Amino acid sequence: MLRNRDNAYGLIAILFHWTIAALFVGQILLGLTTQWVASMALQFTLIQWHKSFGFLILALAALRLLWALANRRPARPRDFSRAEWLAAKLVQSSLYVLMLAVPLTGWALVSTSTLQIPSFAFNLVVVPHLPLAPSEASENFWRDVHWWVAYGTAAIAAGHMLAALRHHFWLGDGILKRMLQPGAESPNRGTVKGQKAAGR
Ligand code: HEM
Repeated sequence: MLRNRDNAYGLIAILFHWTIAALFVGQILLGLTTQWVASMALQFTLIQWHKSFGFLILALAALRLLWALANRRPARPRDFSRAEWLAAKLVQSSLYVLMLAVPLTGWALVSTSTLQIPSFAFNLVVVPHLPLAPSEASENFWRDVHWWVAYGTAAIAAGHMLAALRHHFWLGDGILKRMLQPGAESPNRGTVKGQKAAGR
């Protein structure tokens, strides 16, 4: 099952979710490592990798957004209150925006850098800079914005992850399974939509 259904995620949505989640965690760690290494040569290489994975996340996040817009969003499971579901969807929608915003602010940072170092994506292509005027003030501004947006996203994603784990281990519903197995529905409880259809 490739596409989402009324009550379940399809394979494509699941692959996008876990690929981007893994790349995102890797990027945070890589970004932190670049600050700690002493060797300038190693730092240069790590930053090039950080930029490469950033462009990859940007491309995947854009495709994911298009895929989400072209698919239905699985319905609210019965054991979610309307308020909790609304909060979850608000967090997920903000993650969609932030997945694009983090790499875009990084791209703005390298584009405004006075060093004007080219970005070699995976040593395959040179990604052009954004049309922004380089200056020290602008570079510092985008560095701060990139930092705050990246760590803000990490904090929101951590909250999202803890909520999913709480549902899985504590409440024992099938919400995490929906994101692990294409076509899996919330097994014990069904969805609000299903409940209404059954006239309950
Ligand atoms: C271990 C970490 C994570 C876990 C356990 C997790 C778990 C989940 C689960 C269970 C859902 C489906 C909720 C439902 O059935 O409606 C979901 C959806 C989502 N997650 Fe995660 N997630 C994790 C990390 C992330 C990260 C790092 C991001 C983004 C940076 C992210 C972005 C999203 C988005 C945007 C959705 C909504 C998908 C849609 O409905 O179109 N997740 N996540």
